[in-house]
This record gives sequence, structure tokens and C-alpha cells, in this order.
Amino acid sequence: MDFTIITKSPEETKNLGKDVSKLVKPGDILAFYGELGAGKTCFIQGISLGLEVQDYVTSPSFTIINEYQGKVPIYHFDLFRLDKAEEILELGYEEYFYGKGLTVIEWAEKIEQLLPKENLKIEIKFKDRYQRTISFIPQGDRFNKFLEELNRIENFRD
Ligand SMILES: Nc1ncnc2c1ncn2[C@@H]1O[C@H](COP(=O)(O)OP(=O)(O)OP(=O)(O)O)[C@@H](O)[C@H]1O
Ligand SMILES: [Mg+2]
Repeated sequence: MDFTIITKSPEETKNLGKDVSKLVKPGDILAFYGELGAGKTCFIQGISLGLEVQDYVTSPSFTIINEYQGKVPIYHFDLFRLDKAEEILELGYEEYFYGKGLTVIEWAEKIEQLLPKENLKIEIKFKDRYQRTISFIPQGDRFNKFLEELNRIENFRD
């Protein structure tokens, strides 16, 4: 199943990220899609809060990957500055994607062909200044269950 939700503020997007953090398992891959300023980092900040990361999470501007320690390690990729998918090979990305932490990827479209088959696609679209349409599209079985759970949690919220 797909699942779509509208958030009305950065706080709501962070809270959604926090809810997602309750459902993730080490080894999961969350692939984020959305224009500049859509709210990918904001969502990831919510996940990090939920996983009790102490560092302040931002879009890494000169590094392509940041690693944070939380209840599980988080590997935060921001591929905005990546020109070619091959550049990510030099980073030893497989260590992360198939590692023991949670991988979150901003601008995942840049490495579409390298993404493991099992991943959760999270698409963020501008609706207006403060509203975002956030869609979850599961790739692979693991995330079907995940989205059923998330749906339950979010319905319970309103
Ligand atoms: N509902 C909302 N959800 C998330 N962010 C929102 C929302 N409404 C307004 N904003 C604002 O939009 C901006 C989102 O910025 P953020 O850095 O998270 O975007 P991004 O998708 O990571 O961009 P980039 O591609 O540059 O890394 C913030 O300034 C935030 O305050
Ligand atoms: Mg960002």
C-alpha cells in the first residue's frame, strides 16, 4: 500500500519523522525525493530526534555523508552535489547501505540504480508555504507492514 499525508508545519513533518523512527530497523533504507527546501532534512531531523541523536542534523554541505550515533547508527547521505552516480562508489556506499545502521538518502534519484531493491521511497511535495504532501511508496515487502503500522499511528493522531 502507498500512504500519503499532508503536514502543515515543519513541526508536523518532524513529528512524522519521529513516528517513522519508531518503526525503522537497522539496515533499513529510506530514499527521499523532493525539491530544494521541500523538507527532507526536516523529516530526517525528526527521525534523529526519535532515535535520540545528540548532534544537530543539517544537510551536509561539503560532505556527502554524515554519520550520527543514536539508538541505531544513522547514515545520512545528501547527494545534491553528486554529479554522477559512480562518484558514490568511491565512498564505499555499500558498507553503509548493507551495514548495521539506518540509511537515509536525500536526492535519492541520483543513485536510483544503486538503491537496494528493498527501500522506502518518501516523496515530499510543496503544497503551499507551510504545507507539504508526503507520500510513502514501499519498494519490497518489508515496507508494506511498515506502512500499515504508520497508517495506524497517524490515524490515531487526529
Ligand atoms: N510542512 C513543512 N514541513 C517541512 N518543512 C517546512 C514545512 N513548512 C515550511 N517548511 C520549511 O521548509 C524548509 C525545509 O527545509 P529542509 O532543509 O528540510 O529542505 P530539504 O528538502 O532538505 O532541502 P535541500 O534539498 O536543500 O537539502 C524549512 O525552512 C522549513 O522551515
Ligand atoms: Mg536537505
